[in-house]
Amino acid sequence: MQKKTLVLPVSQGKPDKKAMRQAAKIIRKGGLVAFPTETVYGLGANALSSSAAKKIYKAKGRPSDNPLIVHIARKEDVHILAKDVPANAKKLIDKFWPGPLTIIFKKTSKVPNSVSGGLNSVAIRMPSHKIALALIKEAGVPIAAPSANLSGKPSPTSAQHVIEDLFGKADAILYGGKARIGLESTVIDMRAKTPILLRPGSITREQISKVLKIKVIRNSGKIKVAISPGMKYKHYAPKAPLTLVEGVHARQKIQQLARAYSQKGLRVGVLATSAPAHYNSVHKVIYLGSTQPKIARNLFAALRKCDKEGIEIILAEVVKEQGIGLAIMNRLKKASANTVHTR
Ligand code: TXA
Ligand code: MG
Repeated sequence: MQKKTLVLPVSQGKPDKKAMRQAAKIIRKGGLVAFPTETVYGLGANALSSSAAKKIYKAKGRPSDNPLIVHIARKEDVHILAKDVPANAKKLIDKFWPGPLTIIFKKTSKVPNSVSGGLNSVAIRMPSHKIALALIKEAGVPIAAPSANLSGKPSPTSAQHVIEDLFGKADAILYGGKARIGLESTVIDMRAKTPILLRPGSITREQISKVLKIKVIRNSGKIKVAISPGMKYKHYAPKAPLTLVEGVHARQKIQQLARAYSQKGLRVGVLATSAPAHYNSVHKVIYLGSTQPKIARNLFAALRKCDKEGIEIILAEVVKEQGIGLAIMNRLKKASANTVHTR
């Protein structure tokens, strides 16, 4: 059933009081509000209400065992939701909150099962975006929010993307600017002695290790029990199959593949990362940017653009798996059907 969706413009710098009050009221009454954060847009509901949180899964078409991140506006509110805040987690909070770092804790009984996907843990983050913070404060409750896309689609980095996916499904959409970071937050499990990186993001493994002075291990998916349920789902996938092409001869290989596909009558799109590129027989070349932060910011919009342009085959250049590059490659790999290596 289609809902009436309010689209409320909010300026990046100064939250419009009236719009924020309206949106906060919707949250308090158990409704859904999409809002900008520094990473991607989120689809929010009152995190302390089971029935409100359930609406998120329905609107997104999200599997009910994939838990939500709870967003808070004051560091001390972590204690409402987390049973135990280990000393190392405290260090990360002091260093990286507000910001794009989500920490997994043991949950308190205040966190409904629908928010934690039936787990006994909870994912918490304090965003650094003014609108997100103002909304949480005004609502007076923590806000559970996954990315504001339909399940399986790339996360939304602009309000327009949210409208494409959730108009008629959310009660309100706060129409802010483009997301500054463009990739979802880093997710780290701090329940055991050794921190486990569950999802790489713009706060890097290296940065976390440096603060804690200990090794951070990566859940490479080899661990049998998927401790982050989100990892088992295919994400960020554009409609067209995406092939990652790596190695020293990547550009020649892309050119060769592009020619072959276009001779078959397919519309080919290329994502270029290392430098602006020119390819023949390609319908669209999208240059993602000259630095890793720029590539991160533009990636999801580029995947959506390929869908819009009716691209049937995407060929993508890779980036170094270092720093934010680890997160960029993680999202590219999740979006890709296969990888071609050239030597
Ligand atoms: O940047 C972000 O994190 C954005 C903005 C809106 O804050 N949110 C976001 O949420 O990306 P979502 O739901 O798309 O991704 C949350 C990820 C999923 O992979 C989920 O499985 C994992 O966090 N997660 C949530 N709670 C968890 C828990 N208790 N244990 C392990 N993983 C958890
Ligand atoms: Mg998501």
